[in-house]
Amino acid sequence: MNKYMQLFRGTAFSSKSSQEILILKDHLFCINHEGRIEKVVAPADSDYQPLLDAYLGQDNYHALDEGQYLLPGFVDLHVHAPQWAQSGTALDIPLYDWLNTYTFPLESKFSDLDFAQEVYDDLVSTLLANGTTTALYFATVHKEASLLLAEICAKKGQRGLVGKVVMDDPEQNPENYRDADTRTALADTEEFILAVQQLAQSTKQGVYPVVTPRFIPSCTDDALKGLGELADKYDTYVQSHCSESDWAHGYVQDRFHKNDAFALHDFGLLRDKSVMAHCNFLNDDDADLFAEKGTAIAHCPISNAYFANSVIPVAHFHAKGVEIGLGSDISGGFSPSLFDNIRQAVISSRMLEDGVNPALPAQDRGVPGSRITVDEAFYLATAGGGESLSLPIGRIQENYAWDVQIIDIKLPSAKLPIFNENEDLHDVFQKIMYLTRPEHIREVWVQGEKVHSR
Ligand code: GUN
Ligand code: FE
Repeated sequence: MNKYMQLFRGTAFSSKSSQEILILKDHLFCINHEGRIEKVVAPADSDYQPLLDAYLGQDNYHALDEGQYLLPGFVDLHVHAPQWAQSGTALDIPLYDWLNTYTFPLESKFSDLDFAQEVYDDLVSTLLANGTTTALYFATVHKEASLLLAEICAKKGQRGLVGKVVMDDPEQNPENYRDADTRTALADTEEFILAVQQLAQSTKQGVYPVVTPRFIPSCTDDALKGLGELADKYDTYVQSHCSESDWAHGYVQDRFHKNDAFALHDFGLLRDKSVMAHCNFLNDDDADLFAEKGTAIAHCPISNAYFANSVIPVAHFHAKGVEIGLGSDISGGFSPSLFDNIRQAVISSRMLEDGVNPALPAQDRGVPGSRITVDEAFYLATAGGGESLSLPIGRIQENYAWDVQIIDIKLPSAKLPIFNENEDLHDVFQKIMYLTRPEHIREVWVQGEKVHSR
């Protein structure tokens, strides 16, 4: 029997740092029985040929074809799973109206487990087919349907981090879509945490419970306090929306006379394992608090363009030491693809960059140093997401999980424009970032197991 569970041979792209791409040309990747990368072997290494000789012709040897490349699987730090059913709908109305007119009525239907099964099955398969190997999900207020989402992730092999959403304030939430009361919200959350931790034991890739106050406006003080205590008691992940829109930002100011970041911190909700979505109105003091606590930002560039007309200063927050990953925010963001969000992250950041129109004063056009490169946006979707979750994912390097996508740029029906056989590999990488569609994603692996192929 071979020592390794799988041996892959091919060219991989991974982040060396937030700015730089590591190119591993024609390397061997040795995957152990836990689904981790035990060894990466370069062609010049002495064990390269002996390993090839040992595995050639075996079922667990995978040589990538010409035109195929390995990328780390994507980490989507912000997905509203039930909202998949309305992706692309009603994005022209303001957030507050969108929530009340479309989103809450839709989410209320997830008391029906058959409906939940249909939507969640389709979403998890779709995300895997788009290269998303880890997802941080908001489910709904319903404990059973939220657990069903975790079960579907477990079964399909996705690393799912799932939150039962808490919305307990009777003044702020619709009568037919909220927790029965604060005590029930906290009891359901605790039962949910225990059930997901139990479920995790039968998975290879892991599933995780997430303490999930929807956003400050939907929760009472007692719920926020109780959720902070539960996160501490069970050492769980925490997620919420933070300083997303003018309306929510203003609401929190009126209620607590401080910004979301400090209010969440007062309730024990800013932890190392916390991920806060959007953060459009984060100021420098808020960002410093995030950096100090190890709390990460889920940057949702498509959604922010619609609901907040906003671009967060990614480069500036990175320089302050804040961890940042990328989120699709389905369905505030219409696309299930982090490739689309990588592209929007770059485009949006350039809208914030200082302009060169001599007719306008420079400061009216933006802020110098705002733009991010596509390499940095790729880092957000992969290694940045892994660091935000403190998990060994998002990089193709030793001791990381074998969470990868195999991209085929020579697919007969959809070739990428490569007209030079010796094209520089960094140029190939950039074409992949801008032009990949789901049909180019031939295989997706999570924790050493194949979870999607086409
Ligand atoms: N704020 C509170 N709930 C939501 C939601 O579902 N989507 C977005 N984008 N913002 C929110
Ligand atoms: Fe959201």
